[in-house]
Amino acid sequence: MRKKISVIGAGYVGAATAFRIVEKELGDVVLLDIIEDVAIGKALDILEGGPAGRYDTTITGTSSFAETANSDVVVITSGIPRKPGMSRDDLVSTNFEIVKAVTENVAKHSPDAILLVVTNPLDAMVYTAFKVSGFPKNRVFGMAGALDTTRFRKFISMELGISVENIQALVLGGHGDTMVPIARYATISGIPLAHFLPQDRIDAIIDRTRNGGGEIVNYLKTGSAYYAPSLAISEMVESVVKDKKKIIPCAAYLEGEYGIQDLFFGVPIILGADGVGEIIEIELTDEEKEAIKQSEAAVRKVVKLLQL
Ligand code: NAI
Ligand code: 2OP
Repeated sequence: MRKKISVIGAGYVGAATAFRIVEKELGDVVLLDIIEDVAIGKALDILEGGPAGRYDTTITGTSSFAETANSDVVVITSGIPRKPGMSRDDLVSTNFEIVKAVTENVAKHSPDAILLVVTNPLDAMVYTAFKVSGFPKNRVFGMAGALDTTRFRKFISMELGISVENIQALVLGGHGDTMVPIARYATISGIPLAHFLPQDRIDAIIDRTRNGGGEIVNYLKTGSAYYAPSLAISEMVESVVKDKKKIIPCAAYLEGEYGIQDLFFGVPIILGADGVGEIIEIELTDEEKEAIKQSEAAVRKVVKLLQL
């Protein structure tokens, strides 16, 4: 039997994500939005593409959580995106209420689901979903590192003129300006990045990665990125529904790993059918540890604003 995957929020990210999931035949999708007609219309549009796109998976649009009942995976994208001049953290009060209400419904109708949170400010919104759902920590996690890492890899590829398929890299930390791209662990077909580039070029790539989301907001003016995010989300959903056990940096609940307690924070994990598997702790230099500390402090500042 095919998996049931619900995507909450039929906006730019939700709709693009639903399309990728259906197109990759990862499962049958329920696309839910508070604006029902939009969800129904977008779902129908995706459904009708099946013959041309050669997918048999189905998708329905709704505003009723009853239709999401017993989902295997639920992706939460509902919430406002930022506009130029805003940080992701400026979204916290509005999106907290939305994620809280949505999570209550998800927990009621799909008590065994795996919950993948996307809404910003990401690390605080995953924390919200974790506390409100009462789900075990392996079944609640957030998408951010997968996006930040794909940006980092692409910028390295562009600088070197080498295929993205040869680039491996890792971004840790909170999904904000303090995220920590770990250039020391970036490799090109196993060869360290430092072999190819001087430090000032590496620093420029790190800087662009940190500001990757903001760069797009400044062009779009009315919202934020959604094509690369939808690909990053579907990569994670695929690793879960196919039990691929890929190593992907995710916002996972930490209980002492990396010296951090009671916080969702971007770290490399093994992602499979049970959700978050092993959290991989890599060795860091003092400078990298300091950057992680600053990122932790930035995430904690936002989490403190949550009325949980
Ligand atoms: P959008 O405005 O296009 O879509 C949001 C949708 O949520 C709207 O259709 C809205 O009607 C719906 N919604 C609001 N309240 C709802 C509720 N209570 N129940 C159901 N649906 C509800 O925004 P977009 O571009 O899709 O972004 C969504 C969120 O994802 C934003 O918070 C954005 O910052 C975040 N995001 C996070 C990324 C990450 O890496 N973690 C990447 C990209 C976006
Ligand atoms: C990004 O980094 C919106 O957080 C999202 O593009």
